[in-house]
Amino acid sequence: MADHGSTSGKDVVVTTDAPGTAVVSSDAIQNPGFPPHRPRISDVDPKKERANERRVAWFFWASIVGSVFAVVAYFAFPIDEADPGSIRLNNGLLGLGIALALFGIGFGAVHWSRTIMEGHDLVEDRNAGHPPQEKYEKRAGAAAVFTASNKESGFTRRKLIRNSLIGALVVSPLPAVMLFRDLAPAEDPVTLLSHTMWKKGTRLARDPDGSPIKASDVTLGSAFHVIPEGLQDMHEGKLEAKAKAAVLLMRLKPEDLKVSAGKEDWNYEGIVAYSKICTHVGCPVALYEQQTHHLLCPCHQSQFDITEEAKVIFGPAKRPLPQLPITVDDEGYLIAQSDFTEPVGPSFWERSL
Ligand code: FES
Repeated sequence: MADHGSTSGKDVVVTTDAPGTAVVSSDAIQNPGFPPHRPRISDVDPKKERANERRVAWFFWASIVGSVFAVVAYFAFPIDEADPGSIRLNNGLLGLGIALALFGIGFGAVHWSRTIMEGHDLVEDRNAGHPPQEKYEKRAGAAAVFTASNKESGFTRRKLIRNSLIGALVVSPLPAVMLFRDLAPAEDPVTLLSHTMWKKGTRLARDPDGSPIKASDVTLGSAFHVIPEGLQDMHEGKLEAKAKAAVLLMRLKPEDLKVSAGKEDWNYEGIVAYSKICTHVGCPVALYEQQTHHLLCPCHQSQFDITEEAKVIFGPAKRPLPQLPITVDDEGYLIAQSDFTEPVGPSFWERSL
C-alpha cells in the first residue's frame, strides 16, 4: 500500500508492508541543500574588511592591556592582611584586569570568525566509525585540516590579527602566575613543616580541652585526638600550630607492632602517636578502625596501617604518616621524646618522598 504526502512542497512516499509498520522511501526525500550564499559586506568591500581586521586587533590589544593592568594592580595595591579594604581593592582590580583580558580574547575571536573568516557553509561527513590506521593517513589528514584552517582564518596572511593575538595569548597567563605564586608559603616549606610545637618533654594532651593524658588512660583499642599541652592557651598562631602538631594516639598489643630498627623505643608499651595530617594533601586523618588498626583519611580514602608504622596501604597518599616518638614522665603522663623527625603534611617537590 502507498500513501502520498507533502513536506515543504516535495512528495514523500510512505509504503506500508505490514499492519503497524511504515517504511519511508529514502530516495523520495530531496535534500534541500544550503540556502544560496549571501556575501557579507566585508567579503565585497576591502575597506570594510580592513576595518574589521583592525577591530579584531583592538580586542586583542584590549586583552593585553587587561593582563598588564592586572599585574600592575597586584603590585601597586598589595594586600594588607589587617585591612579587609585592601583585600577587596586588590581582588577587585585584579578581577577587572583578568576579565578584560579574557573578554578581549573572546570577543576578538568571535568578531574575527563572524566578519573575516570565510563565511560559507560546510558539510562534515559522518565519521566512518574508526580512525585512519596508517600513520601517513593521520598525518596527511591533520596537515590538510591545518592548511584549510589557516587559509580560511587568514592567520598567517593577516599579520595585524596574528601578532596582536599572539601578544594577548602570551601575556594572559601572567595574572594566573601571580595568583599561584600567592599560594606558596612565604617561608621555605621544608623548614616550615619540619618544626612543630612538639619538643622533648611536651605532654600529650586531649584535643580540645588540653588535659594531659596518662599512659594508663589509653586502653587497648582506644584512640585519642591529641594536641601538645599548652596549645590551648596560645593566643596568636594557635590554628597554624595546631594544623602542624595534631596527633592521633592509639594503643595496640606490643606484639602487633612491626617496628623498624632505630624506632624500638618510639612507642610506649604499644601506645603509638602519628601525625594526624594526611600525607596526601593535608586533610585530618580522623577515622580509626579498631579491628584492622587502619587509619582512614576521609578526603580521598587513603588508608594507613599503624601496625606497620602507618605505611600507606590504599589511596593516593605516597608516604607514611610521620611518627611522634613518645614515652612517659615520672608521673606517668605521656610525653614527646622530640619533635617529628621529618616534615609533616603533604608531599611536595622540595622534599624527598
Ligand atoms: S588528603 Fe588524605 S587522602 Fe587526600
